[in-house]
Amino acid sequence: MHLKQRYRMSDLFKNIVSHCKEYGFVFQSSEIYDGLGAVYDYGPMGTLLKNNIREYWWKSMVQLHDNIHGIDSAIFMHPTTWKASGHLDAFMDPLIDNKDSKKRYRADVLIEDYIEKINKKVDKEVSKAAKRFGDDFVEEKFKSEHPRVSGYLAQIAEIRAELARCLTEGDLPALGKLIADLDIADPASGSRNWTEVRQFNLMFSTQLGSVAGKEDKLYLRPETAQGIFVNFLNVANTTRSKVPFGIAQTGKAFRNEIIARQFIFRMKEFEQMEMQYFVRPGEELDYYKYWKEFRMKWHRALGTPEDKLRFHDHDNLAHYANAAVDIEYDFPFGFKELEGIHSRTDFDLKKHQEFSGKKLQYFDTDLNENYTPYVVETSIGLDRMFLSILSQAYQEDEVPDASGKASSRLVLKIPPALAPIKCAVLPLVKNKEAITDKAQAIFNDLRFSFDCQYDEKDTIGRRYRRQDAIGTPYCITVDFESLEDGEVTLRERDSLEQVRIPISEVEAVIRENTSMSNLLKTLQ
Ligand code: GAP
Repeated sequence: MHLKQRYRMSDLFKNIVSHCKEYGFVFQSSEIYDGLGAVYDYGPMGTLLKNNIREYWWKSMVQLHDNIHGIDSAIFMHPTTWKASGHLDAFMDPLIDNKDSKKRYRADVLIEDYIEKINKKVDKEVSKAAKRFGDDFVEEKFKSEHPRVSGYLAQIAEIRAELARCLTEGDLPALGKLIADLDIADPASGSRNWTEVRQFNLMFSTQLGSVAGKEDKLYLRPETAQGIFVNFLNVANTTRSKVPFGIAQTGKAFRNEIIARQFIFRMKEFEQMEMQYFVRPGEELDYYKYWKEFRMKWHRALGTPEDKLRFHDHDNLAHYANAAVDIEYDFPFGFKELEGIHSRTDFDLKKHQEFSGKKLQYFDTDLNENYTPYVVETSIGLDRMFLSILSQAYQEDEVPDASGKASSRLVLKIPPALAPIKCAVLPLVKNKEAITDKAQAIFNDLRFSFDCQYDEKDTIGRRYRRQDAIGTPYCITVDFESLEDGEVTLRERDSLEQVRIPISEVEAVIRENTSMSNLLKTLQ
């Protein structure tokens, strides 16, 4: 297969991207001007889905934890913030250019992609063997004993170790050598004619005021976390919090990502949902364990299959971290980071204390002691979460059409509590006023409780398909009989089951099955 084809986005991924556009989930930013790379806008359906994901995160973190407080800090921060946090000096990506295609890549991503290809070979061998050996198959034993597979795994470990060393030590020449040794070619052109690897700072800057000068330089925050650190004392004092306690926020972050790939996976402007948990020094690894488990539970509560999520311990810990793990999701382009959980020690608070000259300490009345708290952080990209949900939800089913013949349908099986539209009210026919009046009355009632739609255009089959395509869990059809018996047909998106229920019960049934509260209760 030609390299270009091998690296082309999978068909599934391409379909998801075009579905997002067709149904108003995600649009390319400034599309009429041919778009802006790695910047996207959310359409009507996307905005609702994004709001629901944010609400699920916020309620699970802030509402369900007595000792976590939410804030909303500004995007602009005093420039010294970024000196203190280390972003000015070290928030760099190692970049490499291909001299023939003139395309620019992140050197570490090229190597990660290479590793993922070897991983795919391992998976292929494992699934072949699992089929061959049936119940007798023991995956770990097979992986350690099968010569080819154990060879692949050893190669992965060796590459990972060298990659981690290069990144930790900032050894750029060795990173370039690794790319050459692995014979990695430009995914777009197949060329191996590379430049050396260089560092590139990811922060966007702008000017404050009318006179451009060094002291006026402001940065768009590359993470929301620093807004939390600098407000540590404000929140601790105003909420009279005792350690351990947390501060959470959601908001935009900006990074000058060079690799404009993979749709909303890697954007220049994106949204983070972050929580910093302040704990006694020495207790951080217990809380790290708690948050690692809680966050995985949060993902699994959405019904994501076991094998689609995994932990991946960081190979190269930042110098200030004493533990770090990613929760990875199996995107259509492979397992990639969805969320990070980091034990960041007292690095950030100490740095801000040093640079601001203000004491950022906590007096622990139980210990009768002053100390700088340690921090465990959970950090997830809202847009990545959005993409993982859509990747999981997007399915093409075979369903019977009106005449009973099998036909294919495109459905988004979005977890009902997150679905943009919870129900659609559909009069069976539109030329019968009594039916449309009844349907509209039901719709007008339900809209006080849910995001719902009223649709009377086209055949009922087509309207069902339209709702399936945006992931609406329930359709309510009003027909001639409804006028007589006060009942409607309730169609469920995934099972396609249709039941007759009294109009008076519709709201309760939809509430029960789409409620955010019920989803949150599964986290207890
Ligand atoms: N405060 C820690 C922090 O920012 P990070 O691993 O750099 O850690 C956290 O980012 C999360 O933010 C990632 O797991 C990812 O979900 C999301 N994220 C990071 N860069 C992103 C980008 N360019 N586009 C979309 N999401 C991004």
